[in-house]
Parts: sequence; C-alpha cells; structure tokens
Amino acid sequence: MKSNWLPIIIAIIIVMAIVNKGSNAYQQNKIAVNLATSSAQTFVDTVWRGWNKFQIPVYCDSGKLIWYGYQLIANTSFYLGPKGTVAQITNGMNCQNCHLDGGTIPYGNNYGKVYATYPLYRARNNGVQSIYNRVNDCFERSLNGKALDSTALEMKAIYAYIKWLGNGLPKGYISGGTSLMKIKYLDVAANADAGKVVYIAKCQSCHGSNGDGEPDKQGVGYKYPPLWGANSYNDGAGLFRLGSFAGFVKNNMPLGADYQNPKLTDEEAWNVAAFINSKPRPHKNQQSDWPVTAKKPVDFPFGPFTDSFTEKQHKYGPFKPIIVLIKTSNKS
Ligand code: HEC
Ligand code: HEC
Repeated sequence: MKSNWLPIIIAIIIVMAIVNKGSNAYQQNKIAVNLATSSAQTFVDTVWRGWNKFQIPVYCDSGKLIWYGYQLIANTSFYLGPKGTVAQITNGMNCQNCHLDGGTIPYGNNYGKVYATYPLYRARNNGVQSIYNRVNDCFERSLNGKALDSTALEMKAIYAYIKWLGNGLPKGYISGGTSLMKIKYLDVAANADAGKVVYIAKCQSCHGSNGDGEPDKQGVGYKYPPLWGANSYNDGAGLFRLGSFAGFVKNNMPLGADYQNPKLTDEEAWNVAAFINSKPRPHKNQQSDWPVTAKKPVDFPFGPFTDSFTEKQHKYGPFKPIIVLIKTSNKS
C-alpha cells in the first residue's frame, strides 16, 4: 500500500514547483529589475510592466469581459470608429496608438497607476474624477469623439481590463514608469522650423508628409496613425500640451525606441512637438476646463492666465521664466 503514495507525492512536488515558477514569472513580468553595477554603487531600476494579454483568464465570464476590454483598447476603431460595429463615436484611432501595447509599456503612457490612484482629484475639472470620467476624457479629446455611459458594456469592459492590469498594487501606489516622462525644459522656446527638419528625417516615412498617417489594409483603423488634421486628437487632448508630447515621443518614437534606448535628443523631442502641434487639428471648446486659473499647467496654451505671459509662450516656451515667476509668487 505504501508505495501507492509515491506517485502522489511526486505529483504534489511537481505542482508546487510549477506554481512557484509561475509566481516568479509574474513578479518578473510586473517589475523589471535591471541591475547595472558601477564601480561604487548598484543602480536598481524598477519600473512597472503590465501583464501580457495572454494571461487574461478567458475561461471565466469575468475574464471574457477583461478580454473584450483589451480588444477595445487595441482595436478601438473596429468597434467604435467611423465604421464601428458597435457605435460610430471616435476618429478611427485606437487607444493603443498612444497607450502602447495595451497600456503595458514603461513610459509608454501605460495604465499601471490608474486602478491604484483613481478616483483622483484633477485640476482640469477641479473635482474628483473616476476611471470612467478619465476614459471619457480620452474618448472626447484624444479620440475626438463622444463619451460612453458608465453602464455601457464597452465601458464596463475597459474598466475591467484596467482593473485587471492594476490588480495587486496597493491603493494610492504610483509605480515607476507610469505617466509620461517629464523631460528637461529647454532654455529657449521650442522651434517648429527645427522640428520640421526632425519630422521629415525621422517621422514622415510612417506618419506621412501631410501628417495624416496611413490607413490599414482592412480600412478599419491605421497602420500609422495621424498626427494632425481632421482625424487626429483635438486641441483639448493631453498630447496637445508640448511637455506631454515631447515626453511621449522621446521615449517611444520613432517606432522601436523605448525609454532605455531613446532615439531623439530632448531638443529634438521638444522641437518636433512644436512642429506637430502648430499644425491644424479639431478644436474642442475648453472654456470650462481649469476653473482655477492658477492651476493651469505651464504648457497649457489657452488663456486666461494668472501671469502676463502670452498664449504663445505658454504653448512653445521658454517655460523656465514662467516657472520661476510661479515659484516666487508662491513664496510671497
Ligand atoms: C492621441 C493619444 C491618446 C489616445 C488615442 C488615447 N489616449 Fe488616453 N491618454 C493620453 C495622454 C497623453 C494621457 C495623459 C498622460 C499623462 O499626462 O500622464 C492619457 C491618459 C489616460 C488615462 C489616465 C492615465 C493615468 O495614469 O492617470 C486613461 C485611463 C486613459 N488615457 C485611457 C484611454 C482610453 C481607454 C483610450 C481609448 C478609448 C485612450 N486613453 C486613448 C493619450 C491618448
Ligand atoms: C516606423 C514607423 C514610425 C516612425 C518612423 C514614427 N512613428 Fe509614430 N507611430 C507609429 C505607429 C505604428 C504608431 C502607433 C503605435 C501602436 O499602435 O502600437 C505611432 C504612434 C505615434 C503617436 C501617438 C499616436 C498619434 O498618432 O497621435 C505619436 C504622437 C507619434 N507616433 C509621433 C511620432 C514622431 C514625432 C515620430 C518621429 C520622431 C514618429 N512618430 C515616428 C509608427 C512610426
């Protein structure tokens, strides 16, 4: 009889080994720890990386909802674009065009801190914003479209996906590599003419000489998304602020760049941001945004302001004099 236990014990050991390996893989997936030893100290770089879509537990109903949420982020246009199968409420771009790889990439505008930090006070509307409100901001601005009701299946699915990505992170915790990287301000104003040179050399081959990108073969979305013109983000979107645009492209563009291997200098990133954001795009009425004028970010380009700098300087810089003024007036 005794010998019958042996296979069971072996099976248990194997299962334990697999489970253990799985949780290690999970840790490695969520947190990339790069150790680079210099002569005097050890540098530890911890950034958040999202779960891979193939880890979504699609065998259960809650997992199916998460999977649909992922699909809506990756193929927004298929469901909600101009020829969308569910509704026609967006400009043809996908969330993933800006929230790279389903919102999982360090400094790739990922969703790593969303579930842990929302609901969140936001100065743009001077109130507390839910995840639903924040997603709708991108629908109305980045996708130049219409908001979804929080009870809509599509909104529930997007919420479920964002929740799944952020699961396990303590409330309020802001992981490394989330948000866009803030890159150094230049001493001078960003220069759209110099940015045009960067654009022609490093961006135009994909995004096109008219900045209108290239549609995909199916005609549903884009192979290369537009950067300006009627089908691009509107002037109320995050990327319309030069600092956000520069931080995004510095770490993610041209395609293939990442935060460890950027392909643009800070100056090139600011200048190409100036060039692209000087081009025409849809307008959004933003009169009710930033009700507390003093809370407008330095690079928010629409007045009124509490300082006497022009809209042009708030758009292109130089930003340092504005920041110095804000700091000194806060002290007095
Ligand atoms: C044109 C680019 C673009 C597109 C397309 C886009 N977004 Fe965004 N999104 C941004 C930018 C820029 C931010 C602000 C990032 C920052 O300031 O840290 C942002 C922020 C967010 C945030 C808050 C992130 C945080 O950490 O607080 C959420 C959630 C979000 N977007 C969801 C979506 C969803 C869902 C879609 C598709 C329906 C979408 N976005 C489409 C550019 C875009
Ligand atoms: C090799 C092709 C390629 C090059 C070159 C390239 N991009 Fe992109 N870019 C893409 C693709 C593809 C996406 C969408 C990424 C996705 O959906 O995963 C994108 C997305 C973007 C986005 C966010 C979506 C949007 O359309 O608003 C911006 C901004 C952007 N690129 C700017 C630039 C800038 C600036 C340069 C030059 C410095 C550049 N890109 C060079 C392929 C390219």
